[in-house]
Amino acid sequence: MNKAAIASLLASVILLASCASTVPGQTRAASASSQTPAPFTLLRRGVNLGNCLEAPNEGDWGFKVQQAWFKAIKDAGFDHVRIPICWSAHAAAEPPYAIDAAFLQRVDDIVGWALAQNLAVILDLHNYPEYCADPKGQRQRLYGIWENLAEHFRDMPENVLFEPLNEPNGAADACFNEDAAELIKIIRKTNPDRWIVVDGVHWSNLPNITSMKLPKDDRLIASVHMYEPIKFTHQGAEWMDGYDKYLGTKWEGSGQEKRQVDDLLNIAANMGKKLGVPVYIGEFGAYSKGDHDSRVRWTDYVARQCEARGMAWGYWEFCAGFGVYDSVAKQYDKSLLKALIPE
Ligand code: BGC
Repeated sequence: MNKAAIASLLASVILLASCASTVPGQTRAASASSQTPAPFTLLRRGVNLGNCLEAPNEGDWGFKVQQAWFKAIKDAGFDHVRIPICWSAHAAAEPPYAIDAAFLQRVDDIVGWALAQNLAVILDLHNYPEYCADPKGQRQRLYGIWENLAEHFRDMPENVLFEPLNEPNGAADACFNEDAAELIKIIRKTNPDRWIVVDGVHWSNLPNITSMKLPKDDRLIASVHMYEPIKFTHQGAEWMDGYDKYLGTKWEGSGQEKRQVDDLLNIAANMGKKLGVPVYIGEFGAYSKGDHDSRVRWTDYVARQCEARGMAWGYWEFCAGFGVYDSVAKQYDKSLLKALIPE
């Protein structure tokens, strides 16, 4: 064999080897042993459908998911939706923790609407305060709920991802590494290849991602939420005690303000490298009671800096208090949307 033939054979072998470790439309995360994960392309820019299904009952917090939203989301340039769901409000209290069939059907329909627009979907178990307050007492129920969900969604395409628990906090901070590993094991019985999004403890706040431990598994994503500076992003938020006094706080994009964002995002990116997994900023956003120009500046800066570090993001949220879309007027907040998707 001459030199050219050997080179061409070698190239084919390298190509075949690289194809074997990838799947169409995406690049697999590097194994946990690697320090430099391959670029992750399944998720890039997304939006949370907040205040809908994570209420005890859809509609309780003023919003019901509408089919037309998904076209609006796709047309705007987002590639995925994260759907927060209060599964615990729709599951039986006793084993096998059956999920209410009508509610499952509703979620099936919604997932179908998203997939029809070629949007990836993160099914996020959101708002399970009973588990966070009493993991010992609620652990088996959380496991049982996921056993049921994993079975139900096992035939979904690979662009449907599972997120076992949004923002672990309270007593769960001390045991979520272990509980997440068990949840992954349970999900893997029926979903060997499903991408699983694991949240950092203490409300997924940065910099708590540094305490994250993950089992060896090449389809995990580490997720954190970015709401810093919190006195700016949550000024006037009704659910934050005493945050009215921060009303009027601006974000000017000064060197110091940018450095705070950079430092936190660097922690997330470095931890992703250490764990050998992609990092997802699953929530970030600034509440509508803040100065609009500041919200636009901050949103643009955070989104671009996530992207510069190869981290996908999910804006919090579509059409409620942080909303980028007015679901009554059926219109985007144009400057906020441009901050998210400049092109
Ligand atoms: C919570 C929402 C809250 C948002 C920003 C979410 O994880 O579920 O209720 O509005 O974070 O604070």
